[in-house]
Amino acid sequence: MSTSVVSSPASRVLREGAFGSAVNLVCRECGATASLGAYYACAECFGPLEIGYDFPAVSREQIEAGPKNIWRYQPLLPVPVDIAGSPNMEPGFTRLIKAHNLGRELGIRNLWVKDDSGNPTHSFKDRVVAVALSAARELGMKVFACPSTGNLANAVAAAGARAGMKTVVFIPDDLERPKVLTTAVYGGTLIAVKGNYDDVNRLASEIAGEEDGWAFVNVNVRPYYSEGSKTLGFEVTEQLGWRLPQQVVIPVASGSQLTKVDKGFSELVSLGLVEEAPYKIFGAQAHGCSPVAAAFKGGHDVVRPVKPDTIAKSLAIGNPADGPYVLDVARRTGGAIEDVTDEEVLDGIQLLARTEGVFAETAGGVTIATLKKLVETGQLDPDAETVVFNTGDGLKTLDAVADRVGPAATIEPTYAAFTGTGLS
Ligand SMILES: Cc1ncc(COP(=O)(O)O)c(C=O)c1O
Ligand SMILES: [Zn+2]
Repeated sequence: MSTSVVSSPASRVLREGAFGSAVNLVCRECGATASLGAYYACAECFGPLEIGYDFPAVSREQIEAGPKNIWRYQPLLPVPVDIAGSPNMEPGFTRLIKAHNLGRELGIRNLWVKDDSGNPTHSFKDRVVAVALSAARELGMKVFACPSTGNLANAVAAAGARAGMKTVVFIPDDLERPKVLTTAVYGGTLIAVKGNYDDVNRLASEIAGEEDGWAFVNVNVRPYYSEGSKTLGFEVTEQLGWRLPQQVVIPVASGSQLTKVDKGFSELVSLGLVEEAPYKIFGAQAHGCSPVAAAFKGGHDVVRPVKPDTIAKSLAIGNPADGPYVLDVARRTGGAIEDVTDEEVLDGIQLLARTEGVFAETAGGVTIATLKKLVETGQLDPDAETVVFNTGDGLKTLDAVADRVGPAATIEPTYAAFTGTGLS
């Protein structure tokens, strides 16, 4: 079949093994296939395309002998076998911490935090961008670009700089200042757009359709990009000793991450790398941008777009591309999609910091607050092994907590002044 959305240089000949064990693109709606390229929409039905594979036999030992980053899972990603050797950010293999204190406070017996703030640009986006960068290179693209709610901007600008590729990043003009600066510092082109993320995303899709050789990581190379999120599922499973968690709580913006963690789990099972066991996937949204939670609670299959209004700007996607698939995953696994207020988000940030010494950005606050709500409302089993994701670093959204935390006292540098505070 032919494909309708093309933006790679037409004459490009792919090198052998450019996409590892990936063999084609498959429509998630009608199952039609397309050849590997910078395509994201099915020519038959306009459904989203994802990567199809012919996986080789892979063993746990082989993976464990690989590099301590996402490339240990190379056979399960659309990247070449020599990927670890080309300049990249080497994301992944972030810590999975046993959250005894948080678990005790919430009444959850067996709780873990997957802390993805430890990635090179301090969010999980380094994972998806690393895979998209590989695709952009193999397809001979000239510009590495994205529309972003902030973290993706950081990751694209940094990865492009390291790979020596021109980058162009589009952000809403009301983004948190630290996210603007930590993108601009890498020296690529940063464009602030007067509008919200959904406006920025529409503009990016238009540019992707008009310009040749532009790889918009989450638009025309989205099938490759989204595969990077599988590595969160792979790592959690490996770090638990090759065991699937029973419950996972994941933040939802476009919904790509949540659906790919599920895909990662099922691939591990089908490859015999992990024993099949039931798991439930829960999604977390901020109330001010909760189109997927609303659809879940209303029993709808269609996600009705909203105009975002929340401090959790990284999750402020009002028209989520993967929304319907998130609903499928939550319903199929017996999970749920829940939402929390901005006040609860701030409480969530402070709760995680106070109990586990992990400072999350607002997206992490959403996820921790949702975990709390899910257990309080009886939707989450407090006795089942649970992993909650912190996907970004609190240093990028400092202003969110600025009115809530600070010094207990400001004193003269004398012992008397110190004892006078009554804090000793
Ligand atoms: C920190 C953080 N967590 C989670 C997400 C959600 O990602 P997705 O769009 O894959 O749902 C984002 C998206 O920007 C993010 O920045
Ligand atoms: Zn289709």
